[in-house]
Amino acid sequence: MALLADRMTALGTENAFKLGEDIQRCLDRGMDVIKFNLGEPDFDSAPHINRVGMREIEAGNSHYCDPQGILPLRKAIAAHVASTRGIEADVSRIVVTPGAKPPISYTMQTYADPGDEVIYPSPGFPIYESWVTFAGATPVPLQLSEERGFSFIPEELAALITERTKVIMLCSPSNPTGGVLPARDLAGIAEVIREKCRPDVRIYADEIYEHILFDGEKHHSIASEEGMAERTVLVSGHSKGFAMTGWRLGWAMLPTAEEAAIFKQLNINICSCVPAFIQEAGREAYESPESAATVAGMVAAFERRRDWVVPALNDIPGVRCQNPKGAFYVFPNVAGLCERLGVVDAYQQLPEASRDRTSPSGMLQMFLLYRYGVATMDRNSFGRIGAEGQHYLRLSIAASMEQIQAGVGRMVEAADDADGFQEFLREERLWD
Ligand SMILES: Cc1ncc(COP(=O)(O)O)c(C=O)c1O
Repeated sequence: MALLADRMTALGTENAFKLGEDIQRCLDRGMDVIKFNLGEPDFDSAPHINRVGMREIEAGNSHYCDPQGILPLRKAIAAHVASTRGIEADVSRIVVTPGAKPPISYTMQTYADPGDEVIYPSPGFPIYESWVTFAGATPVPLQLSEERGFSFIPEELAALITERTKVIMLCSPSNPTGGVLPARDLAGIAEVIREKCRPDVRIYADEIYEHILFDGEKHHSIASEEGMAERTVLVSGHSKGFAMTGWRLGWAMLPTAEEAAIFKQLNINICSCVPAFIQEAGREAYESPESAATVAGMVAAFERRRDWVVPALNDIPGVRCQNPKGAFYVFPNVAGLCERLGVVDAYQQLPEASRDRTSPSGMLQMFLLYRYGVATMDRNSFGRIGAEGQHYLRLSIAASMEQIQAGVGRMVEAADDADGFQEFLREERLWD
């Protein structure tokens, strides 16, 4: 009898966390590493929010609480949803979760049986593909188009919908591309779903970056489109917009109270509840008049960095970078750079088993890290299925302007170092 259950082979991961081992190896060698790999704001949570968390725990709010989420926070979430999406929201359909990640697995466990098809964006948050395959459902990646700012047209979605489609996942603003689905496209997507999907097909709307939009844009949600609220699992939380990644606070609003009861039951089975003092701080984030300025200050900093980094990346020979409209990532196409440095040839010459362990952009990623001390994420970290031949890197701009300028400076040097790349391959042998 094997130690590990068979199903564990189907579980993926989030390489942004795994890359930590390679970074540590570089640090142990005395290198200084500029980290463009992590998806979290480089800001701390705001003092007015922190104060509430501390006050609550000192007052003894240190016990189990309602597994669905404390009522004051669910009321604040309902008010936020109603005002930002223009839809009815009520506390019986809201479940508070430890971050916006658990609702991905809850959704797969609640709706997707083996053989059901789940459509999800690619490149996309890696945990989508991971849970789809773990649930035994059939992954159906919807390839995003670089030329359209990493969105897709409704016809491309329509072409993937079949009788077996059970869940359609959307993420806007997007990790890893920073792309935003324009309101016009959301209307078209809703029309396709109304026409082609049974009422029990669920839309998973990952709106965790809802607060981080540039150029004065407002957030648009698929849930606001006609007939969509009653099919949408709307998910967001505090990690990104309120810089509260370490607090572990997120939420899902389900189409019905019955479905919310299943999410609550999953909370009961897995974590019991999100700590009540954390939820009180989360309520404050929504209700305090101080929050708007805090969020706006952070978004303005991301926007200034974007405005510097996109032209700077486009100046590197072999790099082509779209202008993201939200989140805090840039997702340059590095196909030309891979060619210049001989990465594609080197990849093709690897033994088959080694090729399975990496990709050209993965090799470029490691060259940048091990030789130039710049940590980025490769294309395959955002969904592997159907990603062959796509050469991209993700850089998080949740780093100071000085770090961003220094990191891009190192990339400029690396772009001229084809000999250094060959030497790196000979010396490190990372994929043997
Ligand atoms: C698209 C997307 N969804 C969900 C999450 C998970 O967020 P949380 O840290 O709140 O669990 C992330 C975090 O990187 C994300 O990028």
